[in-house]
Amino acid sequence: MKENLIQIIYIASAILFIFGLKMMSRPTTAVRGNLLSAVGMGLAIVATLMTGGLSMTWIVAGLVIGGVVGTVAALKVPMTSMPEFVAVFNGTGGLASMLVGCAEYYRYWSHGGGEIEAVPLIATYLAVLIGGVTFTGSMVAYAKLAEKIDSKPFLFKNQQLINAAVLGLLALGGVVFFLWPHSIIAILFFLLAVALSLVLGVLVTIPIGGADMPVVISLLNSYSGLAGCAAGFVISNTVLIVAGSLVGASGIILTSIMCKAMNRSLANVLFSGFGSATAGAGKAVEGEVRALSVEDAFFVLESASSVVFVPGYGMAVAQAQHAVRELGDILEKNGTEVKYAIHPVAGRMPGHMNVLLAEANVPYEQLVEMDDINPVIESVDVCVVIGANDVVNPAAREDDSSPIYGMPVINVDLAKSCFVIKRSMRSGFAGIENPLFYKENTRMVFGDAKAVITGLVEQFKSA
Ligand code: TAP
Repeated sequence: MKENLIQIIYIASAILFIFGLKMMSRPTTAVRGNLLSAVGMGLAIVATLMTGGLSMTWIVAGLVIGGVVGTVAALKVPMTSMPEFVAVFNGTGGLASMLVGCAEYYRYWSHGGGEIEAVPLIATYLAVLIGGVTFTGSMVAYAKLAEKIDSKPFLFKNQQLINAAVLGLLALGGVVFFLWPHSIIAILFFLLAVALSLVLGVLVTIPIGGADMPVVISLLNSYSGLAGCAAGFVISNTVLIVAGSLVGASGIILTSIMCKAMNRSLANVLFSGFGSATAGAGKAVEGEVRALSVEDAFFVLESASSVVFVPGYGMAVAQAQHAVRELGDILEKNGTEVKYAIHPVAGRMPGHMNVLLAEANVPYEQLVEMDDINPVIESVDVCVVIGANDVVNPAAREDDSSPIYGMPVINVDLAKSCFVIKRSMRSGFAGIENPLFYKENTRMVFGDAKAVITGLVEQFKSA
């Protein structure tokens, strides 16, 4: 009876996860989706606690420590640090799965060995392998994004060969482990797998540059789901299998969307050392940079009949979203048509700009996607680029020697005029020059995004 009830609760929480995930794909329903998934997780915890034979002391200690760390982190971590925060989450998920695999294998031996079925046996090895790679890989990703270590790709001789050798050893260990699980040699290979999977996580992540880290984090997120799924098979927990599969599948879909938006293959992200000193930088840019003061920018905006804001990472850094919304409202009252064009990889995480603009209550109907704005961009009076760089770089269209050639970008250079708000001529995350800054119809409005936009708002108010 109790077992049936637990399974029914598990099914209910799996359904809540699926609906929650579906709702997270739209900004309007994302918050409710998150809440629904959290309720699902709460139910899953309750059902698991109903299982007998658990040590409540350890569980309560884990709940208290995890709850306190999670609450403090959620309150303190700024939006711009969310990718590295997610990396730590993924890493701990991987570590947990790895520990489940180790604990179950230890339990198997401490109960005198004996028969073990094929599925939990394979799952134990996979939980350790994928969990270990996810843990150390995520820690490296965190350290690179948080600039605790150099974010440049770290390349060395025979790197791929060494990775292949480690992977080969792990595969061999897996075969031995599967064929002779009761032998002492299986224990040795198991311990070797623990160590090598941790090493492999570092080896496969250090050659990837900081700019590609969000993609890697999404991939590691998928791995953490797979590791969780394997751990679910180890301990025969239905909800862990379902939740792990959902995380695994959604992580890989997100990874593929991000790669597509950057016009790169996953192999290119993982193995090309993009952003290293040896990567190409494109043609030298020629032309003149024309700066514009806030006052002059105001006069142009005041008479514009259509304005498109194009936010990027700099808007997040400056936390300018509220000021941007205020300026948008003022322009609308002034009779200007206002839109916000969002590039899929603007910022540092998927949906970064949508989240910030939603926080500032920008109406959803004013948000337009890149594919919808590009065909009509020539009719736009002013494109206001706010702390964006790579996602508006026309070299992606014009310069076939550029590392970002072929990446779809918002074609702000084709609008009637374009203002670029940034602090300097420094490059964006891809580390390459941007010919947009030198175009005839571009004006650079130098300064912190929030300061410039607030300055424009003040100009309108005092006019
Ligand atoms: P970036 O190309 O990184 O450019 C951001 C610009 O913001 C910088 O050039 C910087 O110039 C400016 N900036 C920084 N702080 C500022 C401030 N306080 N006020 C005004 N400007 C400021 O950003 P993007 O155009 O959003 O492109 C995103 C990049 O990240 C792409 O290369 C993309 O491929 C990569 N990426 C994104 C994702 C996701 S999912 N979003 C995933 C993987 C990779 P100054 O220093 O001169 O101010």
